[in-house]
Amino acid sequence: MHISHTHQASRLQLNAQGHLRHFLTTEGLSRELLTEILDRAESFLIRDGRVRHEPVLAGCTVMNLFFEASTRTRTTFEVAAKRLSADVLNIDISTSSTSKGETLRDMLWNLQAMTADIFVVRHNRSGAAHFIAEQVTPGVAVINAGDGQHAHPTQAMLDMLTMRRHAGSIHNLKVAIVGDIKHSRVARAEIHALQTLGARAIHLIAPRTLMPVGLDQMGVQIFDRMEDGLRDVDVIVCLRIQNERMESALLPSAEEFFSLYGLTPERLRLARPGALVMHPGPINRGVEIASSVADGSQSVILQQVNYGIAVRMAVLSMAIQGQREQKQ
Ligand code: CP
Repeated sequence: MHISHTHQASRLQLNAQGHLRHFLTTEGLSRELLTEILDRAESFLIRDGRVRHEPVLAGCTVMNLFFEASTRTRTTFEVAAKRLSADVLNIDISTSSTSKGETLRDMLWNLQAMTADIFVVRHNRSGAAHFIAEQVTPGVAVINAGDGQHAHPTQAMLDMLTMRRHAGSIHNLKVAIVGDIKHSRVARAEIHALQTLGARAIHLIAPRTLMPVGLDQMGVQIFDRMEDGLRDVDVIVCLRIQNERMESALLPSAEEFFSLYGLTPERLRLARPGALVMHPGPINRGVEIASSVADGSQSVILQQVNYGIAVRMAVLSMAIQGQREQKQ
């Protein structure tokens, strides 16, 4: 995992009043700010889990810049922005002029000339959202929708909202994160958010080839056997095997991974009764998780997707308010 931009990013994302103006990483943000995101997201939900409309982005233009594939994140950002009454543009990177040699910086400046107010950015390079936040003109917000192996802060926050709503509180939870920790921007974003919000313990479970060195210094417990790491946990977060980010063969085979690290009904029974089963998606059934567990009564995987809309509404509205405050 690349963390070189993290400390600068955590300063860059706040305005002079300490309010959010970009959202690049969960690292370095206060418990109060993370809780404000969750509370605001909660206010966008109504009782049955459906989301309200609120015209706080009326007259604003949100541009989705996805340089990497996405289903959940891109779509829920679009739905979130529309529910806040923004105009939304999904830029098709494959047919944009970057394919003719235009630099990212020139592309941004041209999009800003079309009055962009918020860029939502996914990129396969760690630090890309931070780079863009440094390039945009004052008043324009940048939201990181996943950069390389570095961070995926809105995914972390929708996972926090899921835990808070389904487990009662994040404080005192014992959470296991299982699978391809090495390539996971979700894992690192979640570790920071869970620690800031007071989780009791974080268990990371992975084969040694998929566990980056040095993570034990982050105050987490490392396990290489599911049977040890899953014992008595309240939440299990399964991660996708990211074959596209593996430079060499770090896994013998998908079948062997499932036999050692797949979340099966038998392994789920090692956790606390009723433990939550989560996965950021996309799911590889029969690799990280058995279908019967993914679709079972303890799974909140589709609720995570739904809460993503409210969390992204919260972050979009907070960032635009933070930018307006900075301009005054
Ligand atoms: N969880 C997540 O980021 O999914 P997508 O890649 O579909 O956006």
